[in-house]
Formats: sequence, C-alpha cells, structure tokens
Amino acid sequence: MAIGIFDSGLGGLTVLDACAKRLPDVPFKYFADSANAPYGVRDADDIYDLTTKAVGRLFEEGCDLVILACNTASAAALRRMQEGWVPRDKRVLGVFVPLIEALTERQWGDNSPPREVDVKHVALFATPATVASRAFQRELAFRAIGVDVEAQACGGVVDAIEDGDLILAEALVKSHVDALKRKMPDPGAAILGCTHYPLMEAEFQAALGADVKVYSQANLVAESLADYLERHPEMLGQGQATGYLTTGDAQRVSDRATQFLRRKIEFAPA
Ligand code: DGL
Repeated sequence: MAIGIFDSGLGGLTVLDACAKRLPDVPFKYFADSANAPYGVRDADDIYDLTTKAVGRLFEEGCDLVILACNTASAAALRRMQEGWVPRDKRVLGVFVPLIEALTERQWGDNSPPREVDVKHVALFATPATVASRAFQRELAFRAIGVDVEAQACGGVVDAIEDGDLILAEALVKSHVDALKRKMPDPGAAILGCTHYPLMEAEFQAALGADVKVYSQANLVAESLADYLERHPEMLGQGQATGYLTTGDAQRVSDRATQFLRRKIEFAPA
C-alpha cells in the first residue's frame, strides 16, 4: 500500500509531511518534477502533459490514489484528467477543495447551496497559472456568497525556493504582500494557494500582520486524506515503501529537501 504525492518540486513536501504525521502507518511515494519546475509560468496544455506523465509514473509505483499536492496542476489539469484520463480503478485528488471547505466552514462533501460566511475579504497568493485559471474563485462560488477575493500572482517565489535562495524568497513575499495590500488594504484572511508557500509562512504572516488569518493546505489535506481512506480503504494501493523520486538532479534536490524539512530526505532519479 502506498499513496502517491505529486508536486512540480519541493512544495508538496509540506503536504507529505502533514500526511505522514496524520497517517504514520501509510507509506507515501513522492514525485517531484524538478526538471520541469516551476509549472506556474506554463500554459494549461503543458501542465496537463507534465502532470499526466508524472502521475502515470506513480501509478507504475503501485499507487492507486495520487494527491496532486500542487495547486497549479490541480487548477490547470485535474478536471481534464478526471474527465478522460484517470483509469477506472485509480483516483487523483487535488488540494483546493479541503482549503475552500475550511474557509467556508463546511464539512467534507457538504454540497448544500452557497451561503454567507464569516470572512468577507480574502487575499489569494498563488502562482501565475493558478491565478489565471480562476479555479479558486470558481470553487468558492459553489460554496459561499458575498466573499471578495483579491488574487496576487507571486512570480519568482517558487524559483527562489527551488534554488534555496531564502533571502530572495523573503524579499519577493514582502513585495507581493505589499502589492496585494495596495489592492485590498484590509484582508480578513489570506490563502497560501501554492504548496511551496508554507515554507515561507512566517514571512507571509509577518508581512500581512498578526490579525490576518493565514490558511495553508498541509494539515487540511492530511485530514481530508485520512477521512477519504477511512471511507475507501481499498485505495491504499499495492506499493509497499515510502520513497522520493525526482526528474531533477537527485543529490541537489535531496540537499534542498533536507534543508527545508530539517530531516534527511533522499531522492532517487525518477
Ligand atoms: N507547488 C506548486 C503549487 O502548489 C507548484 C508551483 C510551481 O511549480 O510553479 O502551485
């Protein structure tokens, strides 16, 4: 049994970490498409082609269920994959819905009509491709009314994190938060809509101010996964061991992952 977790690079490790803590007996196979990161500046067809290739590789590893721990792929490719590509006996889930359910105070699978919620002004920080897809606003509109969303495309942050340049990443976070605040001076909540950004969560929170509630995905996705597996234990799949695969330079990616998660992580070539 193994669950697949996919991201363009290191960001999905924030999701993997939370899932591994929540489900300590479940092995996870992680796939980082580091050679092709970042996805956030690519077009939707390109993101679809790369994502299907990577997820296909995780199916070969014995995973029947793959989490796209990548908002960019979830926004730009997931629906198309679910409509015509995912085999009948496999599942691919995204990371958007658990986040939006938390923001809109809903339980899993509550499909009742949209209603008013507490939060009125939401700042969304995400990659350019996720912002362009408007997938977040679409999912939100199914569940909530009267919520004003201001999206900020955070160009450069993923590259800086992948390069291990945290000084640049911090400077970019500050300038993206400033740009957002010029458009929406008083957000009530902020969404970190890219799985790389929790690695800079303290910097986002500091730039936004302590009274802005920052939502990030890792724990929300882990809870949803635990709930899903309780209802669908057969989706645990055939794979047996936890492992990390990358299309990039395995040594370099291992060093960066170890630096970010502060524990030894060894990637193998995909
Ligand atoms: N971590 C990803 C996301 O959640 C991908 C970022 C990228 O490759 O641009 O969007």
